[in-house]
Parts: sequence; structure tokens; C-alpha cells
Amino acid sequence: MYDENGRQYLDCINNVAHVGHCHSDVVKAAHEQNQLLNTNSRYLHDNMVDYAERLSKTLPEKLCIFYFLNSGSEANDLALRLARQYTKHQDVIVLDHAYHGHLTSLIDISPYKFRNLEGQKEWVHVAPVPDTYRGLYREDHEDPVTAYADEVKNIIEHAQKRGRKIAAFFVESLPSVGGQIIPPAGYFQKVAEHVHKAGGVFIADEIQVGFGRVGRHFWAFQLQGEDFIPDIVTMGKPIGNGHPLACVATTKEIAEAFAATGVEYFNTFGGNPVSCAIGLAVLDVIEKEHLQAHATEVGNFLMKTLKEQQIKHPIIGDVRGCGLFIGVDLIKDQAERTPATAEAEELITRLKEKYILLSTDGPGRNVLKFKPPMCFSMEDAKFVVETIDQILTDMEKECLSQKKTTVCST
Ligand SMILES: Cc1ncc(COP(=O)(O)O)c(C=O)c1O
Repeated sequence: MYDENGRQYLDCINNVAHVGHCHSDVVKAAHEQNQLLNTNSRYLHDNMVDYAERLSKTLPEKLCIFYFLNSGSEANDLALRLARQYTKHQDVIVLDHAYHGHLTSLIDISPYKFRNLEGQKEWVHVAPVPDTYRGLYREDHEDPVTAYADEVKNIIEHAQKRGRKIAAFFVESLPSVGGQIIPPAGYFQKVAEHVHKAGGVFIADEIQVGFGRVGRHFWAFQLQGEDFIPDIVTMGKPIGNGHPLACVATTKEIAEAFAATGVEYFNTFGGNPVSCAIGLAVLDVIEKEHLQAHATEVGNFLMKTLKEQQIKHPIIGDVRGCGLFIGVDLIKDQAERTPATAEAEELITRLKEKYILLSTDGPGRNVLKFKPPMCFSMEDAKFVVETIDQILTDMEKECLSQKKTTVCST
């Protein structure tokens, strides 16, 4: 990225500029379609069909119906409507600290927001984050998958005793705002079993983490295993490389139940010819530039070098991730794993002074989050890790000279 004075920044966090800021193929696709036609999606256009077909090739066969929208929030709101219409239930289970969008309906299912507002609605149920580093069940637990899934099962049973009915389990495939968490493989399958038994559906929010970011797979939910397929998938952010575009993919059965009301789904701008041309161009670039394989290669290198830093700097408690979705958990002490919030803030501030953009997430705002544009290179990775090393070394020296006991004593 460049600022108004032409100063160059290394962007380690912008997962919207997925294939790179202002990628020429995407700009060209938008321009060419704009010169030809852009209009209300009530007028049929091949781009929408072509785009839905291309997206369907990235997903399990069962997810074959597509709705196009203009933002991640719109997509999640529609997912909620689909789930409720299909199940005829109202309640939603979400993970703690989750964020699913800014609409009224989504603030209600985002503990990250509603805890600071009006609080939890009676139809919302909050399950613990399946975080094996600082969560309820950790790496030393014999079966964290079952333990975390049983938490959801207990929530369902408790809700049912109160006469409540579960419409959906709504989850980010990799909880990002929650602290760059990688749920243990098999957790979604077990949760889906409990949720389906209760008559609900499984909604995977891929708005931050989809489109090949995790490297090994195109979709992050696929990290759970081939035997797992959500009932609804929502997409946003990277889908249009900055252009407002979003999508909901679901099954024929759910779409039919939604259509059965006779109330049509209509969205003026969603899936217009320009948006779809852009969506297609993004998919083309991901393929043409082998960005999925690139995410694996650079992501593995970034993980490896960050883990080397973990040995050197005791403030680094955990390095976790997959592809170009990585979290570095900063702690004050090994025993309690107390979030090193102030130190994390100090580190990202000093990085910014060196023209590197990185930010923090998690309830303790102590997890460094890496989710760079997918063109992030080995040199970029090397540069950011070397700079982090330099800054942490400086912070440790300053801490020693001031006889503080935070950064240096862990
Ligand atoms: C996981 C997740 N879901 C949904 C949204 C909402 O997307 P939008 O801001 O495009 O409405 C966001 C935005 O940050 C998000 O991170």
C-alpha cells in the first residue's frame, strides 16, 4: 500500500485486497463490463450464471444454490432468514467473541458487540470458543473435540428444556475476531450432529477466511475433514477484491423452503453484471497465479520463522495458523497465559512506525493477526519477522533497563 505521499507500507492484514491491491486483471474486468452494461439484477445477465457455476466448482456438490449480495452482513442476514424459514425455529448458537456483521440481526448474534450494548437476547446461545491454547479445554485435554462439542450439546439440551428451538449454529470456519483460532478437526462434524438432531442447520461464515486463504483448501471449513459439509456458507470481503460483493451458498432443500413462502428474494445491486465480472476475475487470478499453493508455501515459512521467534522471545506464547491465516498469541506469563495486551499494542505501533501494518485481535487484544493479501511474498514474510524480532529485542532491553517485569521476565 502507498500513502498520499507515495510512502510504501507492507500490508499484513488486508484480506479484502485478496489478490493484491488494484490487481490489473480485476480492474480491467470491472472497466470492460462497466463500458458494456451494469444494471439492476432484475435484468438477467449471463455473468451471474457463469459466476454461480464457477463458485459451485469450488464447493461440495450439495451447495448448489447461490444468492448474491453486497456485503458480508447482508449475506449473514440472509443466511439467518434461510435457516429460520427452513427449520421454522428461531434460536441461534454462536461462539463467544464472534462477530458476524453490523445489521441489527447480526449484532444480536455477535457477542463481540452485544456484550457492550443491550446484551444477550433470549434466542441467542453462546458456546465456548474451541481454543485449545487458552480456552476451556486445552492441548493437554484428552479429547478437546468431544469436550467442546458436548458444550454445544448441553446448550441445546438446556435451551430445549426451556421450550426453545434451535434454527442454526452460526460460526466462522476459523474464528478470527475471537483470536485467530483453529478449531480442532472433527469439532464441526460433532457439533453438526447435535445441531441437526435438534432440527437446526450449520452455517459456516467464510467472510474472512475463504477463497484459498488457508492454502490446503479453498474453503476453511474443509480443514475439518472431507466428511464435513455445512448447510449454508456465507462469503464476502475477499470475494470482490475490494468491490462490494457477497454470496450465500446453500442446498436445494433450504432454498426451496425459502422460496415456498412465495416471497421472492430480490436484491437490486446483488449480482449485477459488473460485480459478477469482478468475482469471476478474482477466481481467475487465484487460479492463474496459483495463490492457494502460494498461501501454503509462504504461510508455512511464516509459521516456521515465527516459531523460531517463539523460542527466542518468551512473550510469544503460541503461534497458530494455516496458510496465510496466522495468529501470534502474546502472553505476560507462561503459567496463566495472561494476555500481553499493552505489549501487543506497543509492538504493532512500532511496526507501523516502520511502515508495516499489523493488528491485534482476540478478547484480550493480544493476538497478532496475519491475514495479508494472498500475493504476500517470502521476502515480505522474512522482512516482517525480522522487524518483529528487532522490536521485541528492543522492548526486552528497555524493560530490563527499567527493571520492569513484563516482557523480560516471562
Ligand atoms: C466474520 C465476519 N462476518 C461478517 C462480517 C460483516 O461483513 P461486512 O462488513 O462486509 O458487512 C465481517 C466483517 O468484518 C466478518 O469479519
